[in-house]
Amino acid sequence: MNEKIGKILVSGERLAAHVKRLAAEIDRDYKDKKPLFICVLKGAFVFAADLLRAVTIPAQVEFMRVSSYGADTVSSGNVQIVQDTDLPIKGRHIILIEDIVDSGLTLASLKSLLEKRDAASVRLCAMLDKPERREADIVPDYLGESIPNEFVVGYGLDYNEMFRELPCVAVLKPEVYVSSE
Ligand code: PRP
Repeated sequence: MNEKIGKILVSGERLAAHVKRLAAEIDRDYKDKKPLFICVLKGAFVFAADLLRAVTIPAQVEFMRVSSYGADTVSSGNVQIVQDTDLPIKGRHIILIEDIVDSGLTLASLKSLLEKRDAASVRLCAMLDKPERREADIVPDYLGESIPNEFVVGYGLDYNEMFRELPCVAVLKPEVYVSSE
């Protein structure tokens, strides 16, 4: 494993078990509904790839990318859409896929945007949740697990665009942050 990792918080095996369980829940809930999965880039690409291959119901996938929040952003109503979907949303059952819910502002905004576009339903599926950090009224409908408020990388999550490729969720050694400042 990477020498910069200090502690593994969620192992690859545990992530895989979460994927299997969540896919089974989605299979059960969306039988005959042909959901449209929307992967929120970039972080969710690894989870989305695993989840999409684990569900057995007919499904489609789209990608959206939103801008991150500036320090002065307090509203949950306005994420900037950097990359939008190509497929029509109206009447579709949407499952938003996220690697992590932190403040909840990203998901709250996306959910409200998709509801305005007349989605038939919008549910949220996240691998990780940091409930301590929540600012918006958001609870994932499908969740891998809640984690403490630590800065984590891997399984799609980055630090300065690095470490997304790690197969587990980990905390980096403190010197990694110092040396890259
Ligand atoms: C992360 C994550 C979510 C968002 C969650 O993305 O993938 O999209 O933050 O934070 P919130 O609950 O406080 O809104 P990030 O902005 O780091 O971009 P990335 O996915 O491209 O790494």
